[in-house]
Amino acid sequence: MPKIQTIISDSSSATYNSGLTFAKILKAGDKILLLGDIGSGKTTFVQGMARFLGITQAVQSPTFVLLKPYRIPKNRGKSKASSFIHLDLYRLGNTDDLQELGFAELLDDKKAIICIENPIKNLPFIGRKYTVSFFYLNQNRRKIRITLTK
Ligand SMILES: Nc1ncnc2c1ncn2[C@@H]1O[C@H](COP(=O)(O)OP(=O)(O)O)[C@@H](O)[C@H]1O
Ligand SMILES: [Mg+2]
Repeated sequence: MPKIQTIISDSSSATYNSGLTFAKILKAGDKILLLGDIGSGKTTFVQGMARFLGITQAVQSPTFVLLKPYRIPKNRGKSKASSFIHLDLYRLGNTDDLQELGFAELLDDKKAIICIENPIKNLPFIGRKYTVSFFYLNQNRRKIRITLTK
């Protein structure tokens, strides 16, 4: 049975802080899939995660670059992860494209925490996986549902 947590966010900063709090439980090798409409808060949540992990660079939406890696400073939290990889696969067709872009090996990186907005089907993953679903309720209000699937 997957564990489920539901959060109602009433502001962009509440979504950011939810991401920051969520990141505290992450370990190297974890994958986080972020689902939901455009503007529902996925990138904002990822920015909060990056903040907790000690990333000082501005984390922007990787809609056009598809993938952006960041180095996690040493001894940051319990994660033992050395990098944070942020993808947005909105523009990607299928897993063959992932291979062609050379991203497939990156997704195997056991020392990385990997966040994927708009994941495609059949991503070649093993290990602990979280799914975070975002629902647009109104202009400032979002529902965020976090599920852990082993
Ligand atoms: N409660 C909220 N949670 C998240 N974003 C919100 C919220 N209220 C307003 N916003 C705004 O909605 C936009 C969310 O964009 P973004 O995080 O890029 O979404 P996505 O990555 O899902 O497309 C931002 O401009 C943000 O300021
Ligand atoms: Mg986004």
